[in-house]
Amino acid sequence: MTLNAEILNHLEPAKEDNAHTLPACLYTDASYLELEYQAIFEANWQLAAHKDQLQNSGDQVICEVGRVPLVIVRNQEGQLKAFHNVCRHRAGPVATENGNNKVLRCKYHGWTYTLNGDLRSAPEMNSTPNFDVCQHHLPQALVEEWEGFIFVSVKDNPPPLAEVLKGIATSIQPIDLKKMTFSHRDEYVIDCNWKVYMDNYLEGYHLPHVHPGLSKLLDYRSYDTILDQWYSYQFSPLDRQGEDNPNNFYGEGKAHYYCIFPNLMLNILPGRLQTNIILPVGHDKTKVVFDYYYCDLDSEQTKKLIAQDREFSDEVQDEDIMICEKVQIGLNSGSYEAGRLCMKRETGVLHFQNLIRKVLRDNFSV
Ligand code: FES
Ligand SMILES: [Fe+2]
Repeated sequence: MTLNAEILNHLEPAKEDNAHTLPACLYTDASYLELEYQAIFEANWQLAAHKDQLQNSGDQVICEVGRVPLVIVRNQEGQLKAFHNVCRHRAGPVATENGNNKVLRCKYHGWTYTLNGDLRSAPEMNSTPNFDVCQHHLPQALVEEWEGFIFVSVKDNPPPLAEVLKGIATSIQPIDLKKMTFSHRDEYVIDCNWKVYMDNYLEGYHLPHVHPGLSKLLDYRSYDTILDQWYSYQFSPLDRQGEDNPNNFYGEGKAHYYCIFPNLMLNILPGRLQTNIILPVGHDKTKVVFDYYYCDLDSEQTKKLIAQDREFSDEVQDEDIMICEKVQIGLNSGSYEAGRLCMKRETGVLHFQNLIRKVLRDNFSV
């Protein structure tokens, strides 16, 4: 598929002196989602698991990347592998849940693959002419670990993972993500295009208007954004500690908000990490997955923090959901084509949208 000239015109890189948003049709027209699956979700690293889920041989985690179901396993040699979760017989699933298994056995007719993705046995296929188990293998995806987090890529030439995430582990010191343990997951389904949610995350401009509680926690005047090649980094000192600010139960330090292209957020506060993964489930519906990790999971102090953190995050998320769904209604209305961006507060939005422009141009212009 190629994009028409009018859209390509909108996909020229936007410069700061004329910074404007993506056209509304990219948020409202279902046909672009297929292009985004191919050029964005399947062509870049996706956070899919944590190392604690894949410690032992036979451990497996299933996930979907763009249109492609995957299964990640630790094989008998102790290596991480990722395979298309699509059987070579008639496309059934070789894994349907997370767990531990010595082999990958298809749930449809029982073809069985080793943890290296090679077909080992296929029931009753002996008498089938010209059939050789040795000729059938599950296609592989790339898999890599960073600070305990497991990333996968369906296509085999994404930008190097170390380059995508460069500088993050050092800039958050003394916080060490490797010392954090998974606590719980919250999921939200939102009636908006996935990029509406991304755009909203990428600026603090809306803080005073949408998030009264969060505004008390963060210092809006010191809130700033730094851009890297593949991510934008928003940060703020945690404002007004102690009794005069009941919103700050996180303690002293900084709030670090990383938004990594295309759809991952790392929200890091003292002693706590929240990952957000933003997944389109349709052109106008988005699933947002929040995973929470903490240091010292069993301490009384952490238990108290978890309860407060969850309630507060839920409140902020409800506020974001409300505004994102209203924005989608505005985009759908036919009243709006594109708008100007604020270069004091919305450089992260411009950066993200220019990456979207580039990827679509590179993949779908003639
Ligand atoms: S589809 Fe997998 S065994 Fe038939
Ligand atoms: Fe927000």
